[in-house]
Amino acid sequence: MIEHRILFVCLGNICRSPMAEGVFRHLVAARGAAGRFQIDSAGTGAWHVGEPPDGRAQEVVRDRGIDISAQRARRVELDDFERFDMLLAMDRSNRTALQRLAPEAHRDKPLLLLSFAPDCKRRDVPDPYFGGADGFDYVLDLIESASAGLFEALVGRDRFV
Ligand code: 4NP
Repeated sequence: MIEHRILFVCLGNICRSPMAEGVFRHLVAARGAAGRFQIDSAGTGAWHVGEPPDGRAQEVVRDRGIDISAQRARRVELDDFERFDMLLAMDRSNRTALQRLAPEAHRDKPLLLLSFAPDCKRRDVPDPYFGGADGFDYVLDLIESASAGLFEALVGRDRFV
């Protein structure tokens, strides 16, 4: 039974949020919890709708055994606020965009992904699009840390109840 519906959100939906979708999907499957989660990603901008993830994003996650090549970019839709429990923004600018778009009843759903990363002083996952490959490695480290924290926050507790 699906208990947690998570949408990862960035600007273009070709770099950060597809990586987060792939990493979190992988983590949840590795912990035997795939059936409990609905996971997707979307962008607040529409420039890249229909495109696969950026080649640099695909490569950096492939090095850690994760294939995101089948993903296709889409834009956040109003319906997403109904369909998902949490919309996890990669940075404050995307969270603001989501808060502006959110229907009144769902204003509390946009959150920052890095609020789940333990001991992380950063609030924003930096946009790697205009930088080099190093930027994608760093983004992946932040996403992996936040994904583990997110899983712990949602499922970790259940083991003790
Ligand atoms: P993302 O990266 O938000 O992590 O997918 C970007 C991708 C494309 C653009 C900006 C950021 N762009 O300006 O086209």
